Amino acid sequence: MPSYLTLGGILGGTTLALFLIRKYMSRKWGSFTSDLKLDGKVIIITGGNTGLGAEVAKVMAAKGATLILACRNWDRTKDFLAQLRKSSGNNDVHFMKLDLASLQSVREFVQEFQDKYNRLDILVCNAGVWMPMEKNLKTQDGFEIHVGTNHLGHFLLTNLLLDLLKMTANSRTVVVSSSLMRTGRFDPADFDNFHEGRVPEKKAGFAPTGYCDSKLMNALFTRKLAEVVPSMMSVCVCPGFCGTELGRHVQMPWYKKMFFPIVGLLFMRSAFRGAQNITFGALKESENLVNGGFYRECEISEDDMKRLDKFDKDELWKLSAQYTNLAE
Ligand SMILES: NC(=O)c1ccc[n+]([C@@H]2O[C@H](COP(=O)([O-])OP(=O)(O)OC[C@H]3O[C@@H](n4cnc5c(N)ncnc54)[C@H](OP(=O)(O)O)[C@@H]3O)[C@@H](O)[C@H]2O)c1
Repeated sequence: MPSYLTLGGILGGTTLALFLIRKYMSRKWGSFTSDLKLDGKVIIITGGNTGLGAEVAKVMAAKGATLILACRNWDRTKDFLAQLRKSSGNNDVHFMKLDLASLQSVREFVQEFQDKYNRLDILVCNAGVWMPMEKNLKTQDGFEIHVGTNHLGHFLLTNLLLDLLKMTANSRTVVVSSSLMRTGRFDPADFDNFHEGRVPEKKAGFAPTGYCDSKLMNALFTRKLAEVVPSMMSVCVCPGFCGTELGRHVQMPWYKKMFFPIVGLLFMRSAFRGAQNITFGALKESENLVNGGFYRECEISEDDMKRLDKFDKDELWKLSAQYTNLAE
């Protein structure tokens, strides 16, 4: 009997400790809601069918926006789309095919969008991949999978949509990056981020080097975009560590799998909560935002802004334009 009591005490104590640690960790998580109505506004969300993109889509649809879910896979979108139309009562929500890992697909998407719409209020560059580097995966155009999809695809997409964004008053671009951009590197004199990707160092962190580099590029791209189009608000956001499908290709040894639920329990927020960082970037009043800024927990991150100073955003823009044949 006393041993049951002891066991109960240990379990209860552990649960309480975990609960308190999570509560402590979550005290700084950003949160955002807005009363803004979006009737008449046209919004594109890349990767709007699942994870963070889907949570942002729910908010935008409920606010009455004309919403385009720019996704690569109809089968992975159709059920969510039907459910979203039903729950929001907004039938002006649509799927349009976009595969960011194909420059041709990006061009076709933009063509189709321009044929249908004559304004673009908010572009949310959210879609992203996280793949094991050892698989050496490439996009259809032969670019390293993370840099090609997460950065180059969005770079071309945004640039091809710039005329519409410029024509629309108070337009905005939100680029979803990550705090992992802190371990990212961009140094064209030293290595080719674009084609082969940066080789992981011996004591590599848990995140793929290509992913970190692509997230750094997202932040540098946003900063340069603000310079190129000062009339538009461009912000970059980190959503925090969230429970989504991003890690679907990660293969963990069994002992790490055992610890992951505990790590998740302590540090991982829901997609619903993480997405508030993205809706903050999309809907916060412009006068309270810094154009080209990097935001974490719904606040400008001065440390990250300083870190970004070290990298050559002009060179990134130049090379990205060259590799995506932007001038064509
Ligand atoms: N989850 C986190 O902890 C976390 C932390 C920091 C930053 N982020 C960033 O948040 C963003 C959203 O990720 P998530 O966590 O919501 O992951 P997710 O659940 O895996 O969603 C990723 C989305 O991107 C789409 N996508 C992937 N490759 C694509 C391509 N080639 N063309 C078009 N769409 C493509 C996916 O489409 P399919 O459904 O067809 O696969 C999916 O809709 C990413 O940029 C990620 O880097 C996430």
